[in-house]
Amino acid sequence: MRVLDLIEKLNRENDLSKEELVFILDHITEEEKQVLYKYSLETKEKYYGDTVYMRGLIEFTNYCYRNCKYCGIRAEQSEAERYRLSKDQIMQCCDQGYWLGYRTFVLQGGEDPFFTDEVLVDIISSIKKRWKDVAVTVSIGERSEASYKKIREAGADRYLLRHETANSDLYESIHEDMSLASRKSCLYTLRDIGFQVGAGFMVGIPGQTNDILAEDLRFIKDLDPHMVGIGPFIPHEKTPLGGFKGGTVEDTLLMLALTRLMLPKVLLPSTTALGTLDNKGREKALKVGANVVMPNLSPTNVREKYELYQDKICTGDEAAHCRQCIEGRINSVGFNVDMGRGDYDGWRK
Ligand code: 5AD
Ligand code: FES
Repeated sequence: MRVLDLIEKLNRENDLSKEELVFILDHITEEEKQVLYKYSLETKEKYYGDTVYMRGLIEFTNYCYRNCKYCGIRAEQSEAERYRLSKDQIMQCCDQGYWLGYRTFVLQGGEDPFFTDEVLVDIISSIKKRWKDVAVTVSIGERSEASYKKIREAGADRYLLRHETANSDLYESIHEDMSLASRKSCLYTLRDIGFQVGAGFMVGIPGQTNDILAEDLRFIKDLDPHMVGIGPFIPHEKTPLGGFKGGTVEDTLLMLALTRLMLPKVLLPSTTALGTLDNKGREKALKVGANVVMPNLSPTNVREKYELYQDKICTGDEAAHCRQCIEGRINSVGFNVDMGRGDYDGWRK
């Protein structure tokens, strides 16, 4: 096997076996990466041209009853200052976002029991009623099928639920009282209900091997989600994984490029975590095939409280500032902002 032959095959067939993916991850050289990145960017351009979609992110609660060992807002992180946005505050974020041109709002939060189906349905349906041309994305973890259905019926279009890692031993070692099987089952349920679905994983989780990263790529190929969020693991000192090494920009870029070739039409965010590790991290991701950015619309006074990992960027910046900043960054690497809803290609509304 030669790495270059495998890259050619991946570019041609958009598929590789787990063994072939592991071989690439184990052996790829810097020159071979450049070939891969050329193909992954060409693939993105074939379907999306030079455009990058913008989504406005609203981090509406940092209460969470889960205890994921990597996450800065886990329940047992007693130093996290907790907050919840009211419906009015969320509507104000959308109002400002709409004015700034956003046509997708991403409501993200911890798994917060305060947000019952009833509360969420009211918020989502109010947003959809007030702004007819926006897409609403929800990202609030694992819920029952009945709950997902209510959220969908209220008008939510998309749901983000990273699988975090597709290896069940690793998954269960970093999540207390959670199982990969239930995570996967949520993802399949969400897809069956009719959401555009986002899965995704972290790169550089302590104990993660190339074999496991290949399992992540195989899992997303089989699930075939509309979006895949991939970011480096960044240790947070107040969490059980705080003392471990984090993931790297290089490894994350490699996984982004492989994902673009495995799922050519996928919506692939250039994540804030990449921008946190490297001032040019998000631009680098766009150059290897990412085509979505998710600037923050949360009120500035709560931003630093949504500290999933340390030194998260943009915590002091107004929404309007991030909007401009990101556009400048996108333009700096030769791409253009598309402020439309940015649905998955071929999606029927
Ligand atoms: N480092 C990087 N990403 C993290 N996330 C949570 N904690 C961390 C961390 N310490 C990611 C998870 C989650 C998403 C919202 O943020 O993948 O799904
Ligand atoms: Fe927020 Fe650059 S995107 S300051």
